[in-house]
Formats: sequence, structure tokens, C-alpha cells
Amino acid sequence: MKRAQKHAIWGRRGTFILAATGSAVGLGNIWKFPYITGENGGGAFVLMYLLCICLIGLPVMVAEVLLGRRGRASPITAMQAVTRESGSSPGWNVIGLFGVLAGFLILSYYSVIAGWTLEYVTTAARGGFVGLDGESAKQAFDALLANKSALVQWQTAFLCMTVLVIVFGVTRGLETAVRVLMPLLFVLLLVLLGYAAYVGDFAAGASFLFSFKFADLSLEGLSLALGHAFFTLSLGMGAIMAYGSYMPHKSSIVKTVMMVGVLDTLVALIAGLAIFPIVFATNGVEPGDGSGLMFISLPIVFGSMPFGTIFGTLFFLLVTLAAWSSTISLLEPAVAYLTERFRFHRVSANLLIASLAWLLGLGTVMSFNDWSDSTYFLGMNLFNFIDFITASVLLPLGGALMAVYVGWFMKRRPLRRELKLESRETFSRWFTIVRYVSPVLVLVVFIMGLYGKFA
Ligand code: PFF
Ligand code: NA
Repeated sequence: MKRAQKHAIWGRRGTFILAATGSAVGLGNIWKFPYITGENGGGAFVLMYLLCICLIGLPVMVAEVLLGRRGRASPITAMQAVTRESGSSPGWNVIGLFGVLAGFLILSYYSVIAGWTLEYVTTAARGGFVGLDGESAKQAFDALLANKSALVQWQTAFLCMTVLVIVFGVTRGLETAVRVLMPLLFVLLLVLLGYAAYVGDFAAGASFLFSFKFADLSLEGLSLALGHAFFTLSLGMGAIMAYGSYMPHKSSIVKTVMMVGVLDTLVALIAGLAIFPIVFATNGVEPGDGSGLMFISLPIVFGSMPFGTIFGTLFFLLVTLAAWSSTISLLEPAVAYLTERFRFHRVSANLLIASLAWLLGLGTVMSFNDWSDSTYFLGMNLFNFIDFITASVLLPLGGALMAVYVGWFMKRRPLRRELKLESRETFSRWFTIVRYVSPVLVLVVFIMGLYGKFA
């Protein structure tokens, strides 16, 4: 109880759901999910992704939230508190350090992509989408990628916007933003879905996403699906742990986690269902077109839709804001680390991390033009390498360590106490999964994935 008094706890039950949803729903759902699904053959990938969410993502998320709430502190300190309570080795604190590193690395490229969405806000507002077809939409996107100074400007603008908002007080704004803007984004995605179904090839899009052949299942796809399950739920790096530390004891962790998981998955699937019907109905645009998929297909829709200029502007603005609420949680573990460990002021910690992320982000900018064919990093360019190291290595390993810790090393009493609102069956089913199923699956998929990628 003593620790709980020192650390603020969110009064309202819904606040954790809002903050966690704000973190989870972002570019991962609207930009990344559709394009990696397109690159990996559709339905088989979606199936593996959904299985990873259910068997690994959600159970590990319960473990991560639980660790945060038990430790009632930022990730590194929370892990210290929990390991002390359970008498386990301080070596487990690497979980916190992994998180700091992963958050920073993701931030470095996330802000570049969020810069693209900012640029598309202005293009949409100028009426730049009107009359676009497959060819011209592709040309516009390629022109943006070739324009290094524009990319850097938008990346800088996004990071400045993020840091400014943090400096002028976060939580209130974050909560309101998520409470109002997320539902708006959701509605807009549904409108888009409806319109795409009407003008696009909905049957082809839906069958691409939901029907699969066994032959399409692949090791590399499986490891990408696993990595994306962690990425999309903001899992395995302490972001969700940090938010869990503010969660009141009267909330059920399992119920809350299910809510966040369902919302995040719905947003991704709806984004896919809005994008692929257009992809299949447009000459010259293919599912495997890569990281530009959403930036090529959606402007075509807005360009032909009634009130498309308004809808398009609003849509890219909302996506930027969704990216922003995710960015806040990407910064959190590193900022907390600097303030607690090195007594940084929160503002200077944010500035320092954001500046370093900006610098590294220049490498991502270059990965979309001059360095795009570089194979310098284990055969990948810098952006692909950072994406690989975070989503396919750091997050799954961080998550697996959390599952192993909670399943095997944490004392049963604090564990039960955090989950006292769950029924016996729920608890024991979750415990079995987190103890045996999730860690083993992560390890197997991880090793097979590396084998599939490099052997
Ligand atoms: N979950 C976010 C998305 O899907 O866009 C990305 C992310 C945010 C990953 C925060 C990790 C994190 F800590
Ligand atoms: Na997500």
C-alpha cells in the first residue's frame, strides 16, 4: 500500500483503456498492417496475426499491465520493485532497458512516417487528391519520398508537435484527444470502408484478407505476424507497463486488456477492408506495393468521393493524432529512465530523446531514397533493419521475458492479488498460457523466423 500512495493512480476506470488504446491504435493499424498483409499474401498472414494476438499478445499484455500495476512505477523502477518483492534476481531489470532501447528506435522511424501523414493533411486540404488515379497517386507518393528536405521538415514538425504538447502537460490532453478523436477516426474509417465497398472491388478485398491457402503459410510471415502482434498492441517494451502503473485496483486487468485488444484489431481490419477493395479496383496498384500502400490507395478514394477534400484532410489529421498518442507512450520509458536514474527534468529528458530520435530518423529518411537499396545492415537498409530489430527481436523477446517472469518467478500471492477480480477459471487458463504457451511459441517462432530469414 505504501508504494501506491506515492504514485498517482488514475481516478476513473476508463482512463487506462483510453490511454492504452491511444498507445495501441496508431500507424501500426492503418499504415503498417495493410502493407505487410499485402506483402505477405493476405489471408494466411491475417490468420497467423490473429492467432498471435489471441495466444500471445493478449496474455502477455495482461502480464505487462500486471507488472506495472504491481510495481506502481515507471518500467525500470517497477521491475525493481516487483523483483525485490518476489526475491528474484535484479537481472530481470534488462526488461526495462530493452524497453527504453526499443521505444527509442521505434520513435526514430515512427516520426518519419507520421511526417508523411502530416504532409498528406496539407495535400488533402489543398484539394491535391482530386481526380487522382493509380498512376498519379503513385507518382505523388514517390515524389514525396524523393524529396529529402520535405521528409525532414515533416519529421521535424511532427516531433516538435509531440514534444510541445508534452511540455505543456500531457495527460489531460491525451485523454480528451483519445475520448473524442478516436471514435471520430473509427467513424471515418467506417465511412471509408462503406465508400470503398461501393466504388471498389469489395469482394476481392475481403477475400484477399479473409480467405487463405495453406500454401501461403510461411516461416517469415509467421515471424512478421508475431512481431506485428507485439508492435500493434504496444507490447514488450514497457509502454503498457507504464500505463498499467496508474491503473486503479478496482479495474479488472483481463477485461480491460480484452477491450483494448478488440479495439486495436478492429481498427486494423477495418483499415484493411477500406484499402484493399481500392487496391484491387485500381490499375497499377498491387497489394505488395509496400510501405506506400495506404498513401497511394486512400487519396484515390478521397479524390473521387463527395466532400473528399474535407474527409481526406480530416482523415489524415486524425491518423496523425493517433500516431501522436502512440508517440507519447514510445517516449515514456526512456523519459522515465532519464528522470529517475539521472535526475533529468522531464522537459529536458523529452527534448534529449526526441533530438536523438530525430538524428537517427534521418537514416530512415535516407532509407526511402538514396539508401533504399543499401544492404549494409544484415542485408537490409537502415529503416528495414530498425523495424526488424524492434518488431521481430526486441518486442517479442521483451514480451517473452515478461511472460516467463510472471509465469515462473513472481510469487503467487502478489500475482493472485493483482488478478483477484478474475474468476478462478480465467486465472488458471491465463496462467497456463502465460507460463507455457506464450513463451514457447515466441521462442519457436523467433528461432524459426531467424532461420527463415537468414538461412
Ligand atoms: N502500437 C502502436 C501502433 O500500432 O501504431 C505502435 C507502438 C506504440 C509500439 C507504442 C510500441 C509502443 F510502445
Ligand atoms: Na496498433
